[in-house]
Amino acid sequence: MCGIVGAIADRDVVPVLVEGLKRLEYRGYDSAGLAVLDDGRLRRVRRTGRVSEMEAAAREQGLAASLGIGHTRWATHGGVTEDNAHPHISFGELAVVHNGIIENHDAQRARLQDAGYAFESETDTEVIAHLVHFHRKQGLDLLAAVQAAVRELTGAYAIAVVGLDDPDRMVVARMGCPLLVGLGESENFVASDVSAIIQATRRVIFLEEGDTAELTRDGVRVFGEDGQAAEREVHVSDVSLASLELGPYSHFMQKEIHEQPRAISDTIEAVIDNDAFGPELFGADAAEVLAGIEGIKILACGTSYYAGLVAGYWIESIAGLPCSVEIASEYRYRDAVPHPRHLVVTISQSGETLDTMEALKYAKSLGHEATLSICNVPESAIPRASRLVYYTRAGAEIGVASTKAFTTQLVALFTVACTLAKLHGRLDPETEAAHIDALRHLPGSVQHALNLEPQITAWSERFAPKANALFLGRGVHYPIALEGALKLKEISYIHAEAYPAGELKHGPLALVDADMPVVVIAPNDRLLEKVKSNMQEVRARGGELYVFTDADSEFGPSEGVHVIRTPRHVGVLSPIVHTIPVQLLAYHVALARGTDVDKPRNLAKSVTVE
Ligand code: F6R
Repeated sequence: MCGIVGAIADRDVVPVLVEGLKRLEYRGYDSAGLAVLDDGRLRRVRRTGRVSEMEAAAREQGLAASLGIGHTRWATHGGVTEDNAHPHISFGELAVVHNGIIENHDAQRARLQDAGYAFESETDTEVIAHLVHFHRKQGLDLLAAVQAAVRELTGAYAIAVVGLDDPDRMVVARMGCPLLVGLGESENFVASDVSAIIQATRRVIFLEEGDTAELTRDGVRVFGEDGQAAEREVHVSDVSLASLELGPYSHFMQKEIHEQPRAISDTIEAVIDNDAFGPELFGADAAEVLAGIEGIKILACGTSYYAGLVAGYWIESIAGLPCSVEIASEYRYRDAVPHPRHLVVTISQSGETLDTMEALKYAKSLGHEATLSICNVPESAIPRASRLVYYTRAGAEIGVASTKAFTTQLVALFTVACTLAKLHGRLDPETEAAHIDALRHLPGSVQHALNLEPQITAWSERFAPKANALFLGRGVHYPIALEGALKLKEISYIHAEAYPAGELKHGPLALVDADMPVVVIAPNDRLLEKVKSNMQEVRARGGELYVFTDADSEFGPSEGVHVIRTPRHVGVLSPIVHTIPVQLLAYHVALARGTDVDKPRNLAKSVTVE
């Protein structure tokens, strides 16, 4: 939700800022803006819409400067207008970009209005600009003014501030939202994530909660929440430029769908190399943390929650441990009964989803000490707040709709289930070897499923004109039906719902008619016969069936029943293979409907607001 970038250098930083904003666009694309200090002037360009529109305006105005900040917005406070676009400026003297939500902005706004500040936007961010300006005018230098201002704010923020009176510095601060500093040669940068500055430097400092930092051309000084100078480790990012480029693909979503065999094999590399499941996969003190665990609580949102639902089936059947899976935004606001010997597992691609983070904090406050995070972004907030971590190695996921993050979460969670089973004496060596063998063959099976793309493309033409769709699955494949429906609705805007196939007759069957395509995940498992009966219920009402089944199931097409066969049934890992066709279906239907696949309307990738 919102991306920020800033640079101070001896060269013109406008191209760096624009390039950075393009890479951060996945975080929000309602509007974009830049503010630069150019020869004693504070200049600003803002546009609603995409960064490219703002870039054109900046070019037209000949914007060039060696110090500047930029922002790409996902609107929260205030509509999508140019007035609400960042950067926000106070008295023409000081500019701020902000990611996050200031909760006490109403009170601060009233106070600042009393002090003579006029507001031009409906945003919470403008409060920050005026508050820093206010403290600056009390005689504090820029760093002290920012530190004083953030002490008066509640909520979450990552901010970057530049001021007319400070042509040689930028001050930044973070609390609850990601922010890193990039270290260059006689130039320094700040960004919401490393992709934004990777072309300039790979050396980064991840700011910690409550940190402020002052960037000049020659150095960076970091201060902890107590205002004292703080040492922070310098990391060298290994994000590859190729992973941030489209290459031969038309969309990042398409690229990311096709990257899944590689992403999965990278994620399970350690298991395959060790030829064993073991607690060491989750961190140095995992054996101690996992010992005595009697149950699992999974917390996540959206697609990550669906990964959790699959894991729930695996953990109960493989490890024999009770597992409950809950939407993070629900858990955090209810009076939950804690089980001190339950492991709390949070799943988050970004590692910064606010609801998941808050659910984790709530679980910890209830006394849950054993916490594990499944995450795709190293050093992000959620793994840092967890005792154990398993990093999926999907690589940068830029398409807003999650694809490779989901399937890599699934292999990570399968590893969790098998490891817990082993620790509880429920995984004999033969079964362990069989599961590892299944993992070893998984990238190949996923590749076979990807090869179904032409058949799925043919189906997409039939879906494109539809207004609604139903997805059905049973057992461990029910969450895959949920994921298929979510993918379809978020990128094609077709209304889609998923049900456990057995639930159809309890209500949703009333929706079925000839206009309602019904997608069925029907692998060749012990529930296939049950699913076939549910399909009959649909056919009897004139519904048209689109069935994904396995190559070895004796199930063929007939009138009103279209069938695509995924590879031979792969057993326990089947939900992963069956994810591929529903992703491809959503992608091709969206293409056929001409929607913006990578940047679906109203959405953004990292949801750092409630
Ligand atoms: C859907 C999607 C979202 C995310 C959800 C959680 O395609 O991507 O539903 O899964 O916002 O995000 P993370 O995993 O970053 O916590």
